[in-house]
Amino acid sequence: MGIVFNEKSKVFLLNTPNTTYGVAIADDQYLLHLYYGKRLEEEDIRYLLREDEPPFLPSSNLREKNSFLDCAPMEYPETGMGDYRESAFCVRNVEGYRASELIYEGYEIQKGKPALEGLPATWGDEKSCTTLKLFCIDKVLGLHVVLMYTTFEKLDVITRTVLVENKGKQSVYLEKVLSACLDMDDRGFEVMGLFGSWARERHIQRMPVGYGRQNIASFKGESSHQEHPFFALITPETTQEVGEVYAMNFVYSGNFIAQVEKNQFDSIRMTMGIHPEGFTWKLEPGECFTAPEVVLVYSDEGLGRMTRTLHDLYRNHLIRSPYLHKKRPILINNWEATYFDFDEKKLLDIAEEASSLGIEMLVMDDGWFGHRSSDDSSLGDWFVNEKKIKGGLHKLVEDVKKMGMKFGIWVEPEMISPDSELYQKHPDWAIQIPGRETTQSRAQYVLDLSRDEVVDGVYEMIAKVLKSADISYVKWDMNRQLTTIGSSALPADRQGELYHRYVLGVYKMQERLLQDFPDLLLENCSGGGARFDAGMLYYSPQIWCSDDTDAVERLAIQEGTALVYPVSAMGAHVSVCPNHTVGRITPFETRGHVAMLGTFGYELDITKLSKEDKEQVRKQIAEYHRYNDLIREGDYYRLASYRENGYYDSWMIVSKNKTKALLFFVQVKARANAKSRVVRVRGLNPSMRYRVYGREYLGSTLLYAGIRIPAEFGDFKSKLIEIEEV
Ligand code: GLA
Repeated sequence: MGIVFNEKSKVFLLNTPNTTYGVAIADDQYLLHLYYGKRLEEEDIRYLLREDEPPFLPSSNLREKNSFLDCAPMEYPETGMGDYRESAFCVRNVEGYRASELIYEGYEIQKGKPALEGLPATWGDEKSCTTLKLFCIDKVLGLHVVLMYTTFEKLDVITRTVLVENKGKQSVYLEKVLSACLDMDDRGFEVMGLFGSWARERHIQRMPVGYGRQNIASFKGESSHQEHPFFALITPETTQEVGEVYAMNFVYSGNFIAQVEKNQFDSIRMTMGIHPEGFTWKLEPGECFTAPEVVLVYSDEGLGRMTRTLHDLYRNHLIRSPYLHKKRPILINNWEATYFDFDEKKLLDIAEEASSLGIEMLVMDDGWFGHRSSDDSSLGDWFVNEKKIKGGLHKLVEDVKKMGMKFGIWVEPEMISPDSELYQKHPDWAIQIPGRETTQSRAQYVLDLSRDEVVDGVYEMIAKVLKSADISYVKWDMNRQLTTIGSSALPADRQGELYHRYVLGVYKMQERLLQDFPDLLLENCSGGGARFDAGMLYYSPQIWCSDDTDAVERLAIQEGTALVYPVSAMGAHVSVCPNHTVGRITPFETRGHVAMLGTFGYELDITKLSKEDKEQVRKQIAEYHRYNDLIREGDYYRLASYRENGYYDSWMIVSKNKTKALLFFVQVKARANAKSRVVRVRGLNPSMRYRVYGREYLGSTLLYAGIRIPAEFGDFKSKLIEIEEV
């Protein structure tokens, strides 16, 4: 396992339990990509380079260098020298010339995985990880570039990042520093990504790859509702269980590009990194730049295998929270119950009823601060509105605690309202372009978190609130995207750094929050699920998945989210019907089963629930306590998708030792004259015996023949089926 360098063939092989990644040194100077795929046992795979085919570059044949650069499988391609495909690296010097040529200089292999300063990244110790650094240099500019790769001993994951150091005498402008590039021959690939909108996040889409470039991107300053920093190239036969999958996922929360390009020779280039649009980074002599990390996963057992690899990676090597392997308190959030119309009495009424049913935490959402009674004021004025919360926050929290509940609070630290006291004091703290109207969104501006004084100023206000009462949980929201990009603190030739510096500022604030309040349970959120990404998972073990809490809409949202991220991270609540976003009426039981695939909680006025629904709440809470350890820690299997079959949705969670499983089945649409449906389960041990509905079966029977699930009368009916080893 780990990483080896074969001196004779000049090939680096990066091995994980089931995969191999190969890089070769060609002509003593170029790093070329050799292979990524199923584990190889042979070290000498240099023949894959096609060195005997024109237009491979022998050192003597400089007259065809352009052809070589435009067709060789480059490990980290650059702009300006002759590779016309999408580059990963583009640098402009002070005279305005754009070109670089990174020449291989040496390597280092070390145990463990270095942290990336100021950035979220996966982590691992000397036993679980091995890191390869490939050192390259552009001699003209004096730029030193390190391509860094880490392999995981027990997971089929390779992470990549790039470090750039200016050892030259003059500044340079980095115009593009992507984090990963993968060149390979086309195999009829299709591309799979996650797309959507507000309240409709991360729907899976699969498309053929044609000639030219196809990209998935965000320029919104965050990962976004619309497109997502994950994509996979898959062979056409790919399903949950079969097919080859090459996935890239960005551990970053700002602008990104994920691109696939098919060229004249039917080769594919897959790239991912910070979007170059709006990005320029001035690197002075002696300074370094670190690109965020990309996670690569290869699976030759379909999407399911990729999903479970990513879930294990994120649960064991990314999320750091003390809550990661713990049952999270079942919460009740007042947003859909009251919106802005609440006072301390209303909250206490909700808490009282909730605690009597077994709910464990009250979360006070938007509207408790400044003079905010709608969404057009007070962001930035982080002090409690005592007209609403009479007696103050401390008293409210103590009253809630007397009921045996914890207390959580909503904040939106990255924003500022034009009518806030903060804005009157510091109008320059908003991101803006002088002389141009600052675009509002939800009547708010975005704070310039590229500036330390802004980060510190806002952080102090939030910390003061958190210190003023016993607050166990924070929901950190971010309700608009970035526009009119300008910082009053950056000189003209550094304005292109604002997008990235903003994200670094967010990370800095969240890191500080975790250091100062180590027991805090942090849930990230962005207008629902616009920043549900691996970057944020480094700071919070859970993220609000979507503002759409309708059980049917959630099926596709949670299917897409769980394709990549652990279900233990998906914020999911039961809300009232008709649903506030789509007006649909679904059974209370179904809403509970769907929310159980996530962190689980309620978002409704519990004082107004019927007796029957309250009984359901008790039942759901008992189920949550019974099953959450399994759901949180187990392996996730997608069995069927309503998105694909137009009839039903089904998924399963299996314990790591395969002794327990839960199968969820939602019949979304009733069918006339329908037979029962046989669903083949996954993940069980074929030779273990299991009990299902009081009857015993051999694992292989359930796996190969399946379970019979009767057709129901009525839409949106769900079932939770317990499977246990006998
Ligand atoms: C966002 C969140 C919601 C709620 C509101 C409050 O939309 O996703 O859950 O907190 O903001 O304004």
